[in-house]
Parts: sequence; C-alpha cells; structure tokens
Amino acid sequence: MTEKTITLTNNSNGQSVELPLLKGTAGPEVMDITSLYSKMGIFTFDPGFVATGSCRSAITYIDGNAGKLWYRGYPIEQLAEKADFLEVAYLLLYGELPSKDQLGEFEHIIRYHSMIKETVKSFFDGFHFNAHPMAVMVGVVGSLSAFYHDSLDIHNPRHREISAHRLIAKMPTIAAASYKHNIGEPFIYPRNDLDYCANFLHMMFATPCEEYVPSKLAVKAINLLFILHADHEQNASTSTVRLSGSSQANPFACIASGIASLWGPAHGGANEAVLDMLTQIGDVSKVDEYLARAKDKNDPFRLMGFGHRVYKNHDPRATIIRKVCHEILESMTDSNNPMFELALRLEQVALEDEYFVERKLYPNVDFYSGIIYRALNIPTSMFTVMFAIARTVGWMAHWMEMMDDPQQRIGRPRQIYTGYDKRDYVPLDER
Ligand code: CMC
Repeated sequence: MTEKTITLTNNSNGQSVELPLLKGTAGPEVMDITSLYSKMGIFTFDPGFVATGSCRSAITYIDGNAGKLWYRGYPIEQLAEKADFLEVAYLLLYGELPSKDQLGEFEHIIRYHSMIKETVKSFFDGFHFNAHPMAVMVGVVGSLSAFYHDSLDIHNPRHREISAHRLIAKMPTIAAASYKHNIGEPFIYPRNDLDYCANFLHMMFATPCEEYVPSKLAVKAINLLFILHADHEQNASTSTVRLSGSSQANPFACIASGIASLWGPAHGGANEAVLDMLTQIGDVSKVDEYLARAKDKNDPFRLMGFGHRVYKNHDPRATIIRKVCHEILESMTDSNNPMFELALRLEQVALEDEYFVERKLYPNVDFYSGIIYRALNIPTSMFTVMFAIARTVGWMAHWMEMMDDPQQRIGRPRQIYTGYDKRDYVPLDER
C-alpha cells in the first residue's frame, strides 16, 4: 500500500513539503511532522497539545466526540460492569485479560508486595503532622528508589515489571499511611486475606484496637472508581510520567512526578476541589449566584467537576458513575444531607444552562467521584490520593510501553522565543 502523504505549502515563499500521514487502528489521521524543521526550518506551535500526538500507544483509546473510552480495546462500560480492578490492572499492563491462573498469580504477587520497608515508615515522621496526604505521597513515592535498589535497571524488562508490581502493591499502603500520619494514628499493616480495595479501607480505618469491616457497597464503589480512573491515555500526569521517563529517570521518580501533576485542581485535584466548591456554595439558594460567577470571565471561579479537554459530548466514566452515585445517595440513611442535595441541584442547573450546553461542559468523572467518596466517609484530603492509587496502573503501563518503544527519545518540546533580541551586557555601575 502506498503511504498517504499531505503537502504543506508556505504561502510566503511557495516552498512545499510532503509529510507522511499516519493512521492508528482507530482515531483521526496524524500528520508526521518530525522532518518539518529539517526540511522547512519551521516549528509547530500547539500550547496545551490540543492537536499534537506525542507517542504511539496501544493501551487506551478515547473518542471524545463519541464519548468512547476503551482499555486495550475493551469498552469501559463492559469492564466497569464485569471486571475487578486488579483484572483491569493486568489488562492495562500486559495487554490481554488474564486467565484464571494468571489473575490468581498476579493477585498473589500484588498482595505479597504490599508491605513497605520499616525504614520507609520513618520517612513519614519528617512531615508536619497536618501535611496534605498528596504532599506526603509525592515525597514518599519519590523516595522508594532509595529503598529498592535491586530492581532499578530500567533497561531490564524484568526489573521494570518488578517495579510496576511494587508500585501498584505499595500505593494503597503508602496512601493509608499518609492519612494515618495526618490524623496522628498508628499505621496499620496490610492484610493478605483481603482483596485490594478492602485492604485499602482496612489500612485507612482500622486501628490497633479495633478491626474495621468495610461494607460491600464501599468495596464495590471503590473497585468501580479505581477501574474508571486506571488510565486515560496521554493526560497531563501520564504525559508527565512519560516525559520524566524519557530522560531515563527511575520509575519511582517518574511516578512521583505523575502524582505531582495529578494534584492540580484542573486534573485529579478536581474531586477534592468539587467538595471545597460545594462547601463554598453552601446552600441550594446560592446555586444561581455561583453559576453566574462561573460564567463571568473576570471571575476566576469555575465549576469544578465540569468540562473536559477531550470529551465534548459526555464523559463515559461520568455516565457510569452518575448512576452509582445516585444509587449510593439513595441507599444512605442521611440522603437528605444538604451537600448532596446541593450537588444534585448544581448538576441539574448546569446541564440546562445555555453557557454550559453551548461549550459542551458536562459533569466529568470527578464531579461524581468526590460526592461518592464523601458519601463513603473518605476524608476530602484523600480524594486525589485515591485517584493516584488507581492511575499508578496506567502510569506504569505507559512507562513500560515507552521503555519498550524503539522510537523512544528524550522529550524536548520547542518554543516561540518572545524575549529580548540580542543586547550587550551593561556593567553594574552604568545601570
Ligand atoms: N466552569 C466554567 N467555565 C468553564 C469550565 C468550568 N469548569 N470549563 C471550561 N469552561 C469554559 C472556558 O472558560 C472556555 O470558555 P470560552 O470559550 O468562553 O473562553 C470554554 O469553557 C473552554 O474551556 P477551556 O478552559 O478552553 O478548556 P480546556 O480543555 O483547556 O480545559 C478543563 C479543560 C477540564 C481543565 C476545564 O474544563 C476545567 O478547568 N474544568 C474544571 C476542573 C475539572 O473538573 N477537572 C477535571 C477533569 S476530569 C479528570 C481528569 O481526567 O483529569
């Protein structure tokens, strides 16, 4: 088959260049501009990477206009309904759904890597008692490379796999320990008889004095949220992990950089920001006032949990979770909680408002995830940490894919320089 090309012409001098047009298994055609600078002396400009692909990836596919999200080809709706989080983790890491034996072995490996070294624990003491758990996560996960020297050869695929297992297994332990440090309670060790999500809840809420038995509903909701948050192709934090990894940094450092990027309220920090916003609005009677502020370009206030760079029709994760969110709220004894009433009112009003409809600003996954976590009594400061636990799977899948890619090079964007033209140094006494 002859290669498809596209011709670009510079209208100012008539110079033309023919560039290859690439096509993946799904999605739009992609113009390969790698030779553009050498052929034409021109860079491209795309702040925010609105139309720029940074890699080839076989992990996740999103069609934002159609509201499609697939992990390794499987629609998110099917995985959300039928799969377990670790089954999805296996799928994202290895490319195929596991057989029963493969899943059993994978669960065993994750379970038996869930403890952290006792010396890692002493790290927590260095943080102020009320440090935000995300700040602790960035520090402690970044520090892991100082503890696990035996698997740090990034050119060895087996070492990369061991690091992936360690990170996926230890994230819930580190996350729960960040919370325990924050509230001044002793850390709780993982339990090998519990599954991934139940074990996390046990480490969060048990104390040495009292066992904690999580409700089936809580385990089910967290399993679902972890599946929905496990990967989302080249989002800000995943791109950060890839960019960090492109310099051949170790995986623990790369994941720490991903956690830092995820923390921002425009990304994973949105679920916490949704709850802060609901607290700020305070009452249903204030919804119109805040909606007007969200539309006012001179006011920095935005409706957190609304809008998405890629989804311009609906966020399929939000559609799945919205149903569960409503189910959980209805099943709760205090479903008349004014905050939940406020959230549902805001959802309804924004969905009908011309400004939001015109700009295709729908509630995204994190509008509902924050509300569900609150309903499950997860503390607000842990919402983004929960996202980080789940997304570690996607980050590691992307990092491993990148490390295996023969085309992989250090990431190095270009710029339009807008500073001074060349000027001469002025000695200090002449300034
Ligand atoms: N409230 C009010 N106006 C908004 C909002 C919002 N939440 N989001 C976008 N807009 C407006 C924006 O002002 C712009 O208006 P105009 O065309 O008149 O200038 C238009 O909608 C397009 O927005 P944008 O900022 O150009 O869109 P973006 O793709 O750069 O940003 C976003 C996407 C998610 C950062 C943004 O919608 C936002 O800040 N949302 C709130 C934060 C949030 O919920 N983030 C979680 C995303 S889902 C979880 C994840 O995967 O990270």
